[in-house]
Amino acid sequence: MKKRGAEMARITASVYTSHVPAIGAALDLGKTDEPYWQPVFKGYDFSRQWLKDNRPDVIFLVFNDHATAFSLDMIPTFAIGTAASYQPADEGWGPRPVPVVQGHPELSAHIAHSVIQQDFDLTIVNKMDVDHGLTVPLSLMCGQPAAWPCPVIPFAVNVVQYPLPSGRRCFELGRAIRKAVDSYDAPLKVQIWGTGGMSHQLQGARAGLINKEFDAAFLDRLIADPSGLAQLPHIDYVREAGSEGIELVMWLIARGAMDDVAGGASPRVAHRFYHVPASNTAVGHLILENQHP
Ligand code: DHB
Ligand code: FE
Repeated sequence: MKKRGAEMARITASVYTSHVPAIGAALDLGKTDEPYWQPVFKGYDFSRQWLKDNRPDVIFLVFNDHATAFSLDMIPTFAIGTAASYQPADEGWGPRPVPVVQGHPELSAHIAHSVIQQDFDLTIVNKMDVDHGLTVPLSLMCGQPAAWPCPVIPFAVNVVQYPLPSGRRCFELGRAIRKAVDSYDAPLKVQIWGTGGMSHQLQGARAGLINKEFDAAFLDRLIADPSGLAQLPHIDYVREAGSEGIELVMWLIARGAMDDVAGGASPRVAHRFYHVPASNTAVGHLILENQHP
């Protein structure tokens, strides 16, 4: 692996988590100690402490918009936020009472430039509101702070309106994002978060579908065989993990940005958590740390 100077940016860790909107509502309405929610939040106790102990300078947060910032008028496959800040969106009950998300326009612009030059077509978004896809992962990892702990670069992936990007393309995109971060000339510790999933289907005859076996195998392979997992065709996600289980391809973007994919050491599994039920979704969560020499 190419030696990186201490003065360059680097990816230190990746975080993976579901984004169930009812989790945000439970937190906002003070229901975290209710018997239904208590085990969900308990699974993130470790993570909130871990984030304090391993505070990044920037979080690159891969998420999906749920027809909030975008609509059928315009459907970007991959969209990078380049704004100085992002407002929590009104999802029908008013915006969540969470801090405004501060961006990092300079690193965003650098990543946009580098990734587009690596032949990925990104949509550049200078103004965007962010929905539960982004705010719920932040809440799970940070609790209810007065301000989020660091700037966040929102990276939106279309997993809602067909056609959707493949897992393979998402994994390759993660590799390109890593190269972009590595070539940024400032000593920033960057975490990349992949969000959404795990198995769930919100609509149709199979609404409520959960597949624990699929989810466990997905977590195993995401850790140990990400390039093999990236070959899983789209239809297998839909059959096995439900129509919204396809959100899991976003986890492959984060995984593609880790050291081992670029020839470095395997990541350390800092935390793994899985829980059902949480609304209609199986909640899955992983923290992988790069092991720098
Ligand atoms: C649920 C899950 C989602 O991923 C989402 O975007 C909306 C709702 C749910 O489980 O209720
Ligand atoms: Fe969702």
